[in-house]
Amino acid sequence: MGVTRSSLHAVCAAALVLTIVGPMSAQAPARFGLGRAATPAEIARLDIDIMPDGEGLPAGRGTSADGAATYAAKCARCHGATGREGPNDVLVGRLERDGFTFSQDPKLPHTIGNYWPHATTVFDYIRRAMPPPAPGSLTDDEVYGLTAFLLHANAVIPADAVMDRSTLPRVVMPARKYFTPDTRRQSSEKPRP
Ligand code: HEC
Repeated sequence: MGVTRSSLHAVCAAALVLTIVGPMSAQAPARFGLGRAATPAEIARLDIDIMPDGEGLPAGRGTSADGAATYAAKCARCHGATGREGPNDVLVGRLERDGFTFSQDPKLPHTIGNYWPHATTVFDYIRRAMPPPAPGSLTDDEVYGLTAFLLHANAVIPADAVMDRSTLPRVVMPARKYFTPDTRRQSSEKPRP
């Protein structure tokens, strides 16, 4: 007896079901026995993100004068004596009337003073990423001093302003108005009005 078209379909369908269900029906073990739980100290070392509103900022303080010496010793060779010369990213400079004219002149450098919307990000970025040979090597006081130095160099704060966990979040950046805040804590959450 020849194979009818419908019985051939049934065989194919059964094969397909086996292919899909087969591997999934094998029970995964509850634990694979690999690795170990991270210790609180290990988590604390990595859990250093700072929110735009300053949540996560550590204790410590610094002024522009405190930061100037650290900048000269650890940053100037890549960013220039005043933060404008390079060879790496230009950190200092405002645009005329604090405009946002990057689309008209693609060569304009994006600096802390003309582009960054939140002062707290300056602290977060320097602490986690700079200087490249040894990120994480700066003390919190040094990072507050460098943050104050760069904010003052960009004419955002006065020379004698003390930056710490309560003053830094209150600094309003010149480019703040060009950004829309995303207040979601999770990417799946809808933005709050
Ligand atoms: C060895 C060279 C080098 C040294 C030293 C260095 N930087 Fe940088 N820095 C870079 C490079 C390269 C980038 C760009 C990194 C990137 O885009 O991923 C950068 C980026 C930055 C930025 C972000 C610029 C922007 O607008 O995106 C800041 C702020 C900064 N550095 C601050 C510092 C400070 C403060 C120090 C001193 C503690 C320092 N850097 C030391 C090379 C250096």
